[in-house]
Amino acid sequence: MTNLKLLSLILCTVVISTNANLIEETCKKTPNHDLCVHHLQADPHSSDADVTGLALIMVNVIKTKANTSLTKIHQLLQGNPQPGQKEALNSCSGRYNAILVADVPQAIAALKKGDPKFAVNSANDAAIEATSCEKSFSGKSPLTNDNNSMNDVAAVTAAIVKILL
Ligand SMILES: *[C@@H]1O[C@H](CO)[C@@H](O)[C@H](O)[C@H]1NC(C)=O
Ligand SMILES: *[C@@H]1O[C@H](CO)[C@@H](O)[C@H](O)[C@H]1NC(C)=O
Repeated sequence: MTNLKLLSLILCTVVISTNANLIEETCKKTPNHDLCVHHLQADPHSSDADVTGLALIMVNVIKTKANTSLTKIHQLLQGNPQPGQKEALNSCSGRYNAILVADVPQAIAALKKGDPKFAVNSANDAAIEATSCEKSFSGKSPLTNDNNSMNDVAAVTAAIVKILL
């Protein structure tokens, strides 16, 4: 191996392990360490991200989840639901849409401006929206997993952002 190759291998290893430590340290401060590590490691941007960057990755997870839930809601609406169910689904469509068009862009803007307090509010609001959706069903909800999942990632996101306060 040439010296140059060896040097870049060493540098590379140092960079990767440095961020494995940052991810570990950061996720320890959240209510769900494993979920946090899972999502951060799944995104290649985490390899050279600072804490703000890690928070932005989690906001992106919120965005993807809200989008997935919205797609599911629209499919359910197309399947001729019962009137009560339809009303709840329409309400949920508004809730998850609010996460996509309000909470996510607000959180991203706040983090990029170095104003993390507002990003905490946005993450907390995403959890509130999902929970309100869940409450709009009088009986069994087809979106329980979506609510739980959104609550989990929002709590992790808020905890990471709080490190920046
Ligand atoms: C939501 O997902 C669809 C399909 O995967 C994609 O085309 C669309 O751009 C996504 N929207 C947002 C806001 O991410
Ligand atoms: C939504 O999920 C959260 C977290 O799992 C849970 O605490 C809450 O009770 C759920 N909301 C409803 C209305 O079921």
